[in-house]
Amino acid sequence: MTNRAAVIRHYGSAECFEITTHLPTLTPIDNQVLVEVKAASINPLDWKIRSGQLRYIHPQRFPLVLGQDIAGVVTAVGKSVKRLKIGDRVYGMVDQSLKPSWNGFAKPGAYASLALSREDTLVTIPDVYSFEQAAATPLAALTVMQSLGKLLREKSADGKQNLNVLVNGASGGVGTFAVQMAKAYQAKITAICSERHHTLVQSLGAQQCIDYHRNDFMDEVIRQGAYDIIYDIAGSFTFKQCRPVLQKRGTFIANVPNVSSLIGSMLTPIYQIFGQHQHQTCAWVHPSASDLSVINDLITAGHIKPVIGQRFALEEITKAHQAGEAGSYPGKLIITV
Ligand SMILES: NC(=O)c1ccc[n+]([C@@H]2O[C@H](COP(=O)([O-])OP(=O)(O)OC[C@H]3O[C@@H](n4cnc5c(N)ncnc54)[C@H](OP(=O)(O)O)[C@@H]3O)[C@@H](O)[C@H]2O)c1
Repeated sequence: MTNRAAVIRHYGSAECFEITTHLPTLTPIDNQVLVEVKAASINPLDWKIRSGQLRYIHPQRFPLVLGQDIAGVVTAVGKSVKRLKIGDRVYGMVDQSLKPSWNGFAKPGAYASLALSREDTLVTIPDVYSFEQAAATPLAALTVMQSLGKLLREKSADGKQNLNVLVNGASGGVGTFAVQMAKAYQAKITAICSERHHTLVQSLGAQQCIDYHRNDFMDEVIRQGAYDIIYDIAGSFTFKQCRPVLQKRGTFIANVPNVSSLIGSMLTPIYQIFGQHQHQTCAWVHPSASDLSVINDLITAGHIKPVIGQRFALEEITKAHQAGEAGSYPGKLIITV
């Protein structure tokens, strides 16, 4: 099968994509799985990499096929692959640790008709799910599962019920999963996003909605406090700013980590010695088939499903990135391949 991909040859605007079939052959070795991609999805990480915003902390080699999320059919497997077989419908977040030695190309990403990943990053797609729904899920749902979901599990295990959760950035790719995950734990959810998305996030489980465009929106945030968890997906809050509305043992999750939140989260044990039990932590998503299996259970039980804002063909990748950067749609943007 001929591989077709959206390639970038340098950092730049959304116009710098080139669709090409002049690509090296992908052959899975060891624990690798070759997937015929039916759908991929876009994450802000993709346009942050493309534009060069992350060039100093996450430098890239070119040419490069971007994209983290894939859903498709297994077409070949490496020798040590045990769980997956040719013909399986699979999805996952592609392996970012593959060495950049793909015949001169950097990592083989998701914006392509063929993608390579490790077996331990992929799971089979639940029967109730389409390829598009599956492609909309991995990075965003894993981010929520590995941060908010972990915290909700821990607090519930400690006997805490009906937690008061604030989700800042509730209508986006991560936020729409976060609201549903919090609802699955019977949390009381206050959601922050644009007013045009309030009906949507209410339908996902938010009880209160606040529009961050209003000048007095922080007054409303304070009125709804004190929160057990503040999940700052949009990255527009600081821990210091949130402390007055956080419970005594409340947690602030920074979804867009910066130097301050990284240092703050590392110093948490020291602060606790001095009696400060409010703390901050940073979300740091990583591919994981075992976490995706738990997500599959939540999907099958009807607790979570992705919100698909818009679909684009691979050839429309420039339009798709422009729409993502402009925040034109709620939920996830899908690339059909
Ligand atoms: N640390 C990690 O592992 C990790 C993983 C995934 C994502 N991220 C990062 O998390 C961020 C969000 O990702 P995403 O996929 O959810 O993005 P997205 O789909 O673009 O959604 C962005 C959300 O933020 C809201 N928003 C925009 N400006 C805001 C502001 N000033 N105040 C409050 N809310 C605001 C938007 O609301 P409206 O559209 O309603 O205006 C929307 O709900 C990105 O920066 C991404 O890179 C980090």
